[in-house]
Amino acid sequence: MSTVVLDSVTKVYPGGHLAVDRMSLRAEEGELLVLLGPSGCGKSTLLRMIAGLEEITSGDLYLDGKHANELAPRDRDVAMVFQNGALYPHRTVRGNLSFPLEIAKADPNLVRDRVVELSRALHIDETLDRRPGTLSGGQRQRVAMGRAIVRQPSLFLMDEPLSNLDAGMRTELRMEISSLVRALGVTTIYVTHDQVEALTLADRIAIMNRGVLQDVGTPGQIYNDPATAFVAAFLSSQQLNLLAATVRTPQNQYISLDFGLHQITMPWTDPRSYAVSQHTGSQIIVGIRPDALAPIPEGAEGPHFAGRVRALEYHGHEWLAYLEVGIPAVPAPEPAPGLNGHVNGNGHAGNGVGGRMRAVMRRLIPGGGHGDADPAEEHTPPPGSGHHRRSDLIVRLGSRPVWRTGDFGRVAVDLSKLMLFTVQGDRIDPPRR
Ligand SMILES: Nc1ncnc2c1ncn2[C@@H]1O[C@H](COP(=O)(O)OP(=O)(O)O)[C@@H](O)[C@H]1O
Ligand SMILES: [Mg+2]
Repeated sequence: MSTVVLDSVTKVYPGGHLAVDRMSLRAEEGELLVLLGPSGCGKSTLLRMIAGLEEITSGDLYLDGKHANELAPRDRDVAMVFQNGALYPHRTVRGNLSFPLEIAKADPNLVRDRVVELSRALHIDETLDRRPGTLSGGQRQRVAMGRAIVRQPSLFLMDEPLSNLDAGMRTELRMEISSLVRALGVTTIYVTHDQVEALTLADRIAIMNRGVLQDVGTPGQIYNDPATAFVAAFLSSQQLNLLAATVRTPQNQYISLDFGLHQITMPWTDPRSYAVSQHTGSQIIVGIRPDALAPIPEGAEGPHFAGRVRALEYHGHEWLAYLEVGIPAVPAPEPAPGLNGHVNGNGHAGNGVGGRMRAVMRRLIPGGGHGDADPAEEHTPPPGSGHHRRSDLIVRLGSRPVWRTGDFGRVAVDLSKLMLFTVQGDRIDPPRR
């Protein structure tokens, strides 16, 4: 068992690519910490630095309290499983599982018992005398995992171990990984780009984008109380509604979120009112999950949006409606780049991101711009695809659609579920951690 502490760990690849930007993070003893983020955000790089397979450019790594930047991989007591857990093709499953113990010159009786015990836990005891070539993908990944943990490392690192498996196998193995690493009590860092995998597996999730840590917390904390618009959007199973609004406080009587055609009133008694009022006169971004909106009859009171039902979409377990509410939608803002504003490896300079966001806001907020929008930017495709246009509000209807296409629909807004962000995508009211 082991703790892992990253203190401002940075990786710049030769050539100047900034892959990991001052990550500070701690994995507790026995914890299953999931590192989540889109492809290319630096997850594997971080994991490889922890394993000692990649040099740390700056910052400090501590394993079990000991400074480990310079420690050789074999001295770290770490086991790693990759997406394609490569096995020894000419050894049987038994031979693959026992190999690490044989290298360590373990007692053969102990090896035999341990291999059998582990193969039962991984449900591959029937395959012990077969060679990897005769196994299914799921079975091969089980063997790869078994081989990694057979020596009972103090730290277990897994890099997208399920991403090459089909959906059914993924779910099955996901549950087994969860119970196995918890039963062993080994500190585990598990990398994935799949938000469902992260939410279902993790004790805590650390979510990153473009090499920068965005948020860390339990699955419930980061889903319900995300630190940034990026996190909120990345964790939404349906596309998150992100709408531009202007904050107004008429005669200081209440707070109004002004969406142009619609206004939503927030009372001063709302716990977020003070933080929001600091943005009076400015634009903010309001995030609304499709399930925070509920159809209500015409004439009903309370905060709501209304518009024509442009499309209905059947998803099997639920219907989604696309409501034309005439409100400008904004794409999920990219997180702010590093504090010192240096260029990251994709060539996105700090002011490039901010500049793009400003251009989006200028285009979307009537009268709010300087009339100098770059014509090329008018052709920037709207977020999402298919049915989702800029002005559509996505509403979750459940298993029975209450509307037909072309109907006039009205939806109540659950104020407590509104997520409020600055135009840079940071939460206006600080998340509770
Ligand atoms: N050896 C390398 N040299 C240069 N750039 C690399 C190298 N390995 C990865 N990268 C780049 O670093 C970024 C992060 O990569 P990676 O850590 O593999 O991301 P992830 O695992 O999240 O998909 C990517 O842009 C990738 O192209
Ligand atoms: Mg990777």
